[in-house]
Amino acid sequence: MNRIDTLMARMTLAEKLGQLTMTASGYTVTGPVIAGDSTQSIIDGTIGNLLNMVGAGPAHEMQRLAVEQSRLGIPLLIGLDIVHGHRTLFPIPLAEAGIFDEAVWERTAREAAREGAADGLAMTFAPMLDVSRDPRWGRTAEGPGEDPWLNGRIARAKVRGFQGTDLSSAESLAACAKHFVAYSPVTAGREYAAVDISERTLREVHLPGFVAAIEAGVATLMPAFTDLNGVPMTAHVPLLRDWLRGEMGFDGVIVSDYNAIAELIKHGVAADLVDAAVLALKAGVDIDMMADAYRKGLPVALEQGRVTIDEIDACVRRVLRLKEQLGLFDDPYRRGATPEPAEAVAERHALARDVARRAIVLLKNERRNDRDVLPLPAAAKALAVVGPLADARTEMKGPWWGAGEHEPAVSVLDGLRVALPQTDIRHAPGVAIDGGDDSGIEAAVALCDGASAVLLCLGERATMSGEAASRATPALPGRQQALAEAVTARAHALGIPVVAILFSGRPLVVPWLAEHADALLAAWFLGAEAGHAIADVLTGRASPSGRTPMSWPRAVGQVPIFFGQRPTGRPMNPADYYTSKYQDVDNTPLFAFGHGLTYGRIRYEELQVEPRRVCEQDTLKISVTLRNEGAREAEETVFLFVRAKVSRVTRPLLELKGYAKLRLRPGEAGSVKLELPASELRYLGPDLQPLFEAGEIEICVGPSAEPAGLLRETIELG
Ligand code: NOJ
Repeated sequence: MNRIDTLMARMTLAEKLGQLTMTASGYTVTGPVIAGDSTQSIIDGTIGNLLNMVGAGPAHEMQRLAVEQSRLGIPLLIGLDIVHGHRTLFPIPLAEAGIFDEAVWERTAREAAREGAADGLAMTFAPMLDVSRDPRWGRTAEGPGEDPWLNGRIARAKVRGFQGTDLSSAESLAACAKHFVAYSPVTAGREYAAVDISERTLREVHLPGFVAAIEAGVATLMPAFTDLNGVPMTAHVPLLRDWLRGEMGFDGVIVSDYNAIAELIKHGVAADLVDAAVLALKAGVDIDMMADAYRKGLPVALEQGRVTIDEIDACVRRVLRLKEQLGLFDDPYRRGATPEPAEAVAERHALARDVARRAIVLLKNERRNDRDVLPLPAAAKALAVVGPLADARTEMKGPWWGAGEHEPAVSVLDGLRVALPQTDIRHAPGVAIDGGDDSGIEAAVALCDGASAVLLCLGERATMSGEAASRATPALPGRQQALAEAVTARAHALGIPVVAILFSGRPLVVPWLAEHADALLAAWFLGAEAGHAIADVLTGRASPSGRTPMSWPRAVGQVPIFFGQRPTGRPMNPADYYTSKYQDVDNTPLFAFGHGLTYGRIRYEELQVEPRRVCEQDTLKISVTLRNEGAREAEETVFLFVRAKVSRVTRPLLELKGYAKLRLRPGEAGSVKLELPASELRYLGPDLQPLFEAGEIEICVGPSAEPAGLLRETIELG
């Protein structure tokens, strides 16, 4: 008999349910705290998995209880959320998505896995694969932005990064694709609210990221808290059991979200904890995180004949197999055995700085007095650094700081002071992030006199995005708008430019700022090295290359706004009243998906597509010439979209199918080549089955999803 069979034959029901239980734990000065339970349960074998334990010492201490003191010696599986870095914080996932570089996505996950594993962890609850088209939803910060194709690329890279090529390695973690599925389109953008979407949207927008993660070999998966068209995901038999286990053949571990099994009662689909446990088990949930529904409910359900021991055993086997794949039976102390060398940590910080620079999106950069406002002139004598986010180290870390809570982070002020030691850097916060007090505005305005430029550091507190952080008005909080207006008025009266740096976990609704600031940067939340990265870009030491992975609305009422909208029978036409439009705002976004300027000026020319007629087996070869007509080096991101001219189902106005990058020196030209297998032009036909339909397809290439900037060529499928 193999190890798992031998164990299964010896396990009591209580021990089996222990393997299906994950309990939150923490460590205080007086010792470990196990939520609602005690460490004795680890010894008894009735807790088999932990979350929220940080540090190799405590993790090994708990592991020893399981391995050395429990009857069967089954190691614990210990997991933690590593959303944008573990101790070394990287930019939030939304910011990282805008780098459009698979190597970066993989590398940060790999480094976070190393760091997490060095802390004794074997699992992380990441990547988060929720496509978001609604900036009101706070968890937008944790995800890939608005596009399903992009999400698939990120999913693959992240799974590879966390898991590496060998799950049993001391540097690998089991990844967890979450939240399955369609967690983001909650009603009115309100966290945890009901979700009601079509099967087409589910299949076209929300499932592909999970398909990609499964194809990449993701070890575990987490159902969303939410319901989908009336059925809570934690109990969703058609999607969990039939689609995921059945159609996709996913045989990894499904771990519930925090207390989600018990919440089936509040959803109104389970009468009590026993009922809830039955529903989740039948749907295929293996591990109960924090609801204690399996330990309390399944013995009763078993006795009542509502579940079978075979159903329970199947879950236990999956959990044991994961522990085996992670190498936990062979050496439960492998992860965290040796502290990381200082050089590894230093290198990780260098990576964090590089990634942060690349995630910054230059949304606007006007010319003033015959020069671009950014980069700042080297000779700047004085800078007025104004706003509540200039001197805000903790905020830089972003919403999910994991084990980085006590790690240092670099503020904008810190970064500028290091980068520009000769410059007089003056600072006044002006207002608090979300306070109502205006009294500091005057002092901030006064700083403008004699400054070469004003840097306005505005935006959200980090905790205004992330879980349970929906905002009905995702704009500048508190009195920041008043501050921006007062300071801008003064700066412009003095003839000095205003550079606004926005911190947020989502696109913000900032039409005034976009119009009046001379330069505008989206700095999202950039992590530990934020201030250095921002200073690198402001001073021109780094040339910005980030692109927004989400459309920025002009008004909250435009939400959801995304480039992949379907056509209407009455497209917007100013000459015709009865067309699809608003009376009070334009249809277009303030900044389109993919928008982001560089310090160069890139011209797109000569789009070539070969062959002009393709069958399903063919691959399209696409090339475009880029020329940098600006005075500085630039890294340009080129997007490839397609648009079907006629098909049996209305198709998005643009569908992303690829991207590429090219670095060009001033005056340099170069060509970018992209390949598109024609099989990727299949879509879900009227019956939701994949269809390769003959007809014309437009190949669109350009710097963003803004239609006016795209070069187009039509080819023939068939
Ligand atoms: C709740 C969140 O929804 C989920 O993403 C996370 O992994 C768990 N809490 C555990 O922290």
